[in-house]
Amino acid sequence: MRTLILYYSNSGNTQRVSEALAQRLDAELGEVTCAANLDWNGPHAMGWDIFTRHRPHIDMLTPPGAHYDLTVIGGPVWAARAAPPVMRVLADHGRELGRVGLFVTRSGSSPRFPPEPAIAEMAAMLPAPAVATHIFRQAEIISGAYRVEVAEFARALRTEQAAV
Ligand SMILES: Cc1cc2nc3c(=O)[nH]c(=O)nc-3n(C[C@H](O)[C@H](O)[C@H](O)COP(=O)(O)O)c2cc1C
Repeated sequence: MRTLILYYSNSGNTQRVSEALAQRLDAELGEVTCAANLDWNGPHAMGWDIFTRHRPHIDMLTPPGAHYDLTVIGGPVWAARAAPPVMRVLADHGRELGRVGLFVTRSGSSPRFPPEPAIAEMAAMLPAPAVATHIFRQAEIISGAYRVEVAEFARALRTEQAAV
């Protein structure tokens, strides 16, 4: 089974989870970058996209010419929604990816900004339900406890894949 973990990470949390998940699933890694968000006025660009729901231009660094049985897409929660670069990926490719797993990383510090709407917004871009989803919290990513959750998420992804 060939698996791709495709992630967007602005400050490293989603990248960390993605790398651990790739190791667990023996998967390949693909990175989404957004040049506008890295520019001198990146925070303004991010803010604009968050509130207007504009989907910015992105670049995807993926292994060449590959077909995957499963693609897992991850990104951060921004203002209780999916990060716009992740929405760009899903808008451009969500319908052609086949089986998809989804995850988000979040700070988890405020009940006013929950992560569930972000997962729901991402899932709505897919033609079929996601095979499995997971929400990772920054505290666990920093402490290292996220590795247990990565193992659980990997198990759920594998189980669903085997059931097909
Ligand atoms: C602009 C912005 C908005 C955010 N909004 C939320 C939020 O609504 N809820 C939340 O739990 N975390 C929020 N966070 C925290 C990030 O989701 C969290 O730090 C995430 O793990 C960052 O992932 P990354 O390091 O891969 O970029 C926000 C962070 C930024 C920069």
